[in-house]
Amino acid sequence: MLDAGVEIKRFDGADDPERLERCFRIVQACIKADQPADQPPWSLASFTAKWVEGFDGNPHESWAGSDASGEVVGCYLLTLPSRENLSRASVVLRVPPDRRRAGIGTALLHHCADRARQSGRTQLAADAWDESSGAAFAAAVGATAGIPNMHRSLRFDAAARARLPGLRRAAEARSAGYSLQSWAGPAPENQLEQVAAVHAALADAPRNVGVEPSVWDADRVRRAEKLIAEYGMDSYTVAARHDASGQLVAITQVLIDSSAPDCGIQQLTAVLPAHRGHRLGLLVKVAMLELLTSAAPDISYFVTDNAGANDYMININAQLGFEVSGVTRTWQLDLTQS
Ligand SMILES: CC(C)(COP(=O)(O)OP(=O)(O)OC[C@H]1O[C@@H](n2cnc3c(N)ncnc32)[C@H](O)[C@@H]1OP(=O)(O)O)[C@@H](O)C(=O)NCCC(=O)NCCS
Repeated sequence: MLDAGVEIKRFDGADDPERLERCFRIVQACIKADQPADQPPWSLASFTAKWVEGFDGNPHESWAGSDASGEVVGCYLLTLPSRENLSRASVVLRVPPDRRRAGIGTALLHHCADRARQSGRTQLAADAWDESSGAAFAAAVGATAGIPNMHRSLRFDAAARARLPGLRRAAEARSAGYSLQSWAGPAPENQLEQVAAVHAALADAPRNVGVEPSVWDADRVRRAEKLIAEYGMDSYTVAARHDASGQLVAITQVLIDSSAPDCGIQQLTAVLPAHRGHRLGLLVKVAMLELLTSAAPDISYFVTDNAGANDYMININAQLGFEVSGVTRTWQLDLTQS
């Protein structure tokens, strides 16, 4: 397809590493231009795994747009969820800063919207930082902004470490009857179903209108773990167990990209509804920071994000010393109207 002088071609990064690397350079330039400075860097290895394997293991397509000289001037990765959210698609669409405002983003978006429609999707979602080109673009094409997703970071310095013993005492005062457990890498086989049940507890976290929560089972946990390894990331999990029943009731997980060992990337923290109110969220997060102090001593900062309305999680992060670094939103385009 030729639009705005751009030829858009599908490619598979596994067979075409050169094109993939050009897309990586574009994404890197966009990170520099559009994101707060404290976001973790992306290595080529981790980018390659994500564009080849896809995010979340869902079906996906990568496309690159080239100008008349053959230079890659934009790209997108379209994800077509296959378990839930079957009427939705999401896209990571990038145009390098020096090629913007020339219609390339619009051309890629039209192409991508057509691909999503051909797969029977009626909504197309993309994330953008507030006040970025992406947000202005999304508004200009008629997309609707979702709820704010607050990004926070924690400088893991001596002051942050010094807060941990007091926070642990405060959490332990409310969490009698629960014990902590931790593991690096995949979850223990005999607790897999319980781990899936705690993941499912995220279903009541605030989310955008019309988005279905992920359905978790043991197979999904294992698939997620496999992808994490393929992305070149180390994973650490701290869990809380209810002593009386032996059930896992809370989990927090942090990933570390092996090419950026100074950054801990917070993943889920979830507590089963029946066990909330015992400061287990704070307890597992404090225990995680203590664990990583020795298990991953190169970490100098952590990043996390959660919905602006998630007061309980935000309160925990504030106690740990996390500070807001920026806001993203998911913008949604109605494909039946555009
Ligand atoms: C968003 C992005 C893909 C737009 O690419 P682009 O090639 O510049 O887009 P277009 O030239 O087709 O812009 C179309 C319209 O969007 C609006 N727009 C785009 N960037 C804008 C900006 N920085 N400020 C204000 N309006 C902007 C304008 O209305 C523009 O039309 P105009 O130039 O005639 O005024 C690019 O800025 C980018 O890669 N950003 C980082 C990634 C990102 O946030 N992606 C998520 C997209 S939802």
